[in-house]
Amino acid sequence: MMNEVIKCLLERRSIRAFSDKRIPLDDLKLIAETARMAPSARNQQKWKFTVVRNAELIGELCSVIEKELDRPDYDMYNPDAIIIATAQTDYEFAKEDCACALENIFLAAHSLGIGSVWINQLRGICDREAVRQVLTKLNIPSDHSAFGVAALGYPAQEHRSISKLECIEIIS
Ligand SMILES: Cc1cc2nc3c(=O)[nH]c(=O)nc-3n(C[C@H](O)[C@H](O)[C@H](O)COP(=O)(O)O)c2cc1C
Repeated sequence: MMNEVIKCLLERRSIRAFSDKRIPLDDLKLIAETARMAPSARNQQKWKFTVVRNAELIGELCSVIEKELDRPDYDMYNPDAIIIATAQTDYEFAKEDCACALENIFLAAHSLGIGSVWINQLRGICDREAVRQVLTKLNIPSDHSAFGVAALGYPAQEHRSISKLECIEIIS
């Protein structure tokens, strides 16, 4: 049966252009709270969610990624805020746990009219010196890596229409 939650799940799409409108802090807190409530392996919750809504700091993070990965004009689509999902680099379920939390973030954001997209470029470069310096500035523990980043902002354009493949088989 269609309800508001199912509708949200079916309608969420990645947004890659954001307006200048600020996301209210309370909405960001609420979105982060849905990450905290996500499932985690053995309920270990070995994660941290860092909400950054300071344009200068987001810019610093983008600059360092731009340099390290040689990606000119890298800007994470210029979001109003980001949420960085981190966990201990060597924790066996870090990737799965963070993915569950990030999906909650995307869905909660969508339900509030806020656009979002998964940003993956921090993966694998967190222990490079220049990147770690910025992460440390953001109070991210030195043994944590970013397993995904949610870029957030009010949509500045409709999402691209994308195809979703048939991949369901029901065997009764
Ligand atoms: C693990 C993962 C990494 C992703 N990394 C990026 C990324 O770095 N940049 C980006 O624009 N989208 C990224 N995406 C978003 C996907 O491109 C997007 O979810 C996919 O095209 C399906 O579109 P939809 O989210 O609108 O359904 C990522 C998604 C996942 C699950």
